[in-house]
Amino acid sequence: MNPEEYLKQKKGRIDKALALYLQAENSPVFEAMRYAVLNGGKRFRPLLLLASGQNFGAAEELLLPYACSIELIHNYSLIHDDLPLMDNDDFRRGRPSCHKQFGPTLALLAGNGLLSMAFEILAGASTPASNHQVKERIIEDIAAASGPRGLIAGQWLDMSFKPDNPQLADLQEIALKKTAPLIKVSASSGARLGGASLAEVEALEKFGTFLGLAFQLRDDIADFNQDRGSFRRSSLPNMARWLGPTASVQYLKDLLDKAADSLKEYNIKSEIFGFFINQLDIGLK
Ligand code: IPE
Ligand code: IPE
Ligand code: MG
Repeated sequence: MNPEEYLKQKKGRIDKALALYLQAENSPVFEAMRYAVLNGGKRFRPLLLLASGQNFGAAEELLLPYACSIELIHNYSLIHDDLPLMDNDDFRRGRPSCHKQFGPTLALLAGNGLLSMAFEILAGASTPASNHQVKERIIEDIAAASGPRGLIAGQWLDMSFKPDNPQLADLQEIALKKTAPLIKVSASSGARLGGASLAEVEALEKFGTFLGLAFQLRDDIADFNQDRGSFRRSSLPNMARWLGPTASVQYLKDLLDKAADSLKEYNIKSEIFGFFINQLDIGLK
């Protein structure tokens, strides 16, 4: 199966599993949660987790609860990110954002609900006894990635950003905190569940960090191209605006090379990882 077919098939599995987790109840909060999650996200993080796990021989059923939990956390972060008191975005994935559809109170609660549910799913994930330590470690890693030293710290740096005299290092730090941790933990958790060695897990962490930074830069390039000249957007931290079009594309390529090198160093070969790297590179000169 080629990478495109493989990922399409896995995305179908992830979407189905997410729908099952969220179908449980008919309440306004669940409706807002379903609206925010089941609407065509790329599922990049859970796909990365599945690919990483399967690369080391883990079965899909073992990996799915972890993959879905990370996707729920990602979706909570997007609901909150769009709120008027944060980025104030009216649209997400081509539809009204959650608070536009349900109001800010339900959107806030739906975000909180997704975050808590993610940890409920993680704690309940059926994992063989031999993997219990791995499971504990992954839950700790996911909590740290989404917590006040990871994503939350990044969102605060993003919100408190002063555009007067930004340095590239400041913008990198924001991306390293708000975006890279969930991508890094997706890459490493799959490997851990597949029984990868510590050195291999470290390689995957390095790979995930570079990939995460590249992912945010790619998003920044797209935002910058779309919003050039917009007054509101110019106050938001954006690496592409700081670097300019040519240097940002060069920087993206450097990051993707570093991501690939992290794998080569440990002789980790995966067609799917290569495909992820190429996907972030295509369409840019
Ligand atoms: C958007 O993430 C926010 C960033 C971290 C850049 P995605 O690009 O993964 O969004 P969806 O889930 O596919 O909509
Ligand atoms: C998304 O960041 C939020 C997180 C990474 C937690 P951005 O604000 O850069 O992404 P978009 O442009 O809203 O998707
Ligand atoms: Mg935003």
